[in-house]
Amino acid sequence: MAGPGRFKLGVFAANADGGLAITTVPERWRAGWDDNLAAARMAEDAGFEFFLPIARWQGFGGQTRAREWSFETFTWAAGLAAATSRIALFMTVHVPLVHPVYAAKALATVHHISHGRAGLNIVCGWNPGEFAMFATTPAARPYKQAAEWLDIIERAYAADAPFDVAGEYYRLRGVVSRPASLQRPRPVTMNAAFSDAGRDFAARHCDYLFSTFTDIEDGRRHVADIAGRAAAAGRRVGVLTVAHVVCRETTAEAEAYYRHYAVTAADQAAVDAHMAGKKAFAGSHDARAFDLYRQRFAGGAGSYPLVGSPRKVAEEIAAIAAEGYGGAALAFVNCTEELPFFRDRVLPLLAQAGLRAG
Ligand SMILES: Cc1cc2nc3c(=O)[nH]c(=O)nc-3n(C[C@H](O)[C@H](O)[C@H](O)COP(=O)(O)O)c2cc1C
Repeated sequence: MAGPGRFKLGVFAANADGGLAITTVPERWRAGWDDNLAAARMAEDAGFEFFLPIARWQGFGGQTRAREWSFETFTWAAGLAAATSRIALFMTVHVPLVHPVYAAKALATVHHISHGRAGLNIVCGWNPGEFAMFATTPAARPYKQAAEWLDIIERAYAADAPFDVAGEYYRLRGVVSRPASLQRPRPVTMNAAFSDAGRDFAARHCDYLFSTFTDIEDGRRHVADIAGRAAAAGRRVGVLTVAHVVCRETTAEAEAYYRHYAVTAADQAAVDAHMAGKKAFAGSHDARAFDLYRQRFAGGAGSYPLVGSPRKVAEEIAAIAAEGYGGAALAFVNCTEELPFFRDRVLPLLAQAGLRAG
């Protein structure tokens, strides 16, 4: 993540079936272990900076039981850490569902296995069904809990003697966690959020905010907003975003495939469940995104669609970079089938644009 490329690229959600798509097409991503391994190695060889999992405990039903199949992210990252050598491997961790003492030890373990390539993506969660699986409910002030949670991890790495915690959410005795992560105060950390409270938490405590946008031109406003919040805390914080990609020789071809998998062959019941849940319980998107963009939810969980020829996709990525984003996590319908075309045809254009090393 500290490399020279101005605009970082990652792969998002390869650990879950469908990736970010909710579709019935037979070529959809199945997220088997060998698929993940192949995708991580392919992304690493292509020079992608990071590999980022989604954290899911339940699916959205429908014909495909979308996202019900997903690998747990500490163990997933540990496996990939042993099989790769350069790419950063994030773990996406639900603050309310994973105890901070466990998270500290698991994260440090992957940091050691990967020789310092592990990163933490903090999510506070939104799905009441997932909270119910753990017999809990969302905190009244999730980011207050997240701040305590992350502070415990940092203290566990810094402390050379056991310590107690007397917080609002955690009252712990004799906390110790060795080994510490190789990097201090902790591995690279991002927070996946959209709300004011989520942005404030990222601004005060994280290295990056991981967030969505609806139109590229909104980007500048979002980036300036987080920069302002970080400056108020005497910090600088990068902003990463997320997009789903359909890149083909021509824009017409790409658009036809996008319609095919995300409209005609969308898993409609699962799209309904996903959109209804997100609309009711997560503020992770602009409100109008829900009304305008059903195709975006089937296509890529409501993220921005990069659909077109290599030139169009590269120009849109350059436009996203120009708004001030530091990078993007990308999702494909089938990562290992589609990444080679993106690597061969889009990456050289991004290098020409000065956004990435050639
Ligand atoms: C880019 C992005 C990625 C997210 N990834 C996950 C995830 O993997 N698992 C999850 O449960 N929630 C995920 N969320 C949702 C957040 O955990 C959170 O519930 C949601 O953003 C609402 O919080 P907010 O109002 O602070 O944004 C993500 C949100 C964003 C913006």
